[in-house]
Amino acid sequence: MNEKLERLLSYEPTPYVIRLPARFRECSFNNFDWANQNPKTWETILDFVEDRLVDANGMPKGLYFYGPFGVGKSHLLSSLYRVMVHKFGEVCEMEYISFADLISEIKARFGPNGNASEFEIEMKEKDYLFLDDITAIRLTDYAAEVFDRFVQYRYDHGKRMLITAQSPLSKLSVDDHARSRLFEMCVLLEIKGQDKRLG
Ligand SMILES: Nc1ncnc2c1ncn2[C@@H]1O[C@H](COP(=O)(O)OP(=O)(O)OP(=O)(O)O)[C@@H](O)[C@H]1O
Ligand SMILES: [Mg+2]
Repeated sequence: MNEKLERLLSYEPTPYVIRLPARFRECSFNNFDWANQNPKTWETILDFVEDRLVDANGMPKGLYFYGPFGVGKSHLLSSLYRVMVHKFGEVCEMEYISFADLISEIKARFGPNGNASEFEIEMKEKDYLFLDDITAIRLTDYAAEVFDRFVQYRYDHGKRMLITAQSPLSKLSVDDHARSRLFEMCVLLEIKGQDKRLG
């Protein structure tokens, strides 16, 4: 096996039950079939886990996984989350949430006088934010606005975003303001393969 992939697989996921959708609770790099993936994918994830993924200015970079339905993007994101919780969970704040849930929670908890809720502030400030399936809901004006606020805040504060989407970033239906920042904030990784749900 490739040496870097082997090293990535040696990172243990947290043994604890953490807040993750039931479907992804047991996902790990070890039960992911890497056969279709480009070595750049595991090399970049390894750099991320080992805290080496920074841009030319030394700002930490996140990851943007994209590819068609059912190829394992959420599997990889949740596997990475479990490893990160194990490695840094005691010293860093991190959260895994689907974009659809983030939007509905923010809508439900919007504070009085239109102020951002505690929940929104808390989510914005997480050291690591794992945002699953950004294209699952149509980016309405409202969702696009919330997303833009998150990207802006996290860009300004050098906080990592980890995102999965079906579309490449160039085609994601977000404001160009957010897109431009995300290009700088994330390494883009194309996940390849067939839809595993179709067998
Ligand atoms: N390469 C893979 N190795 C092992 N299991 C996989 C792989 N790809 C997908 N799966 C499994 O197939 C199912 C679908 O994968 P997943 O939900 O990660 O797809 P996705 O790329 O996030 O799709 P979508 O864009 O529809 O959200 C999951 O149960 C996942 O564990
Ligand atoms: Mg998914």
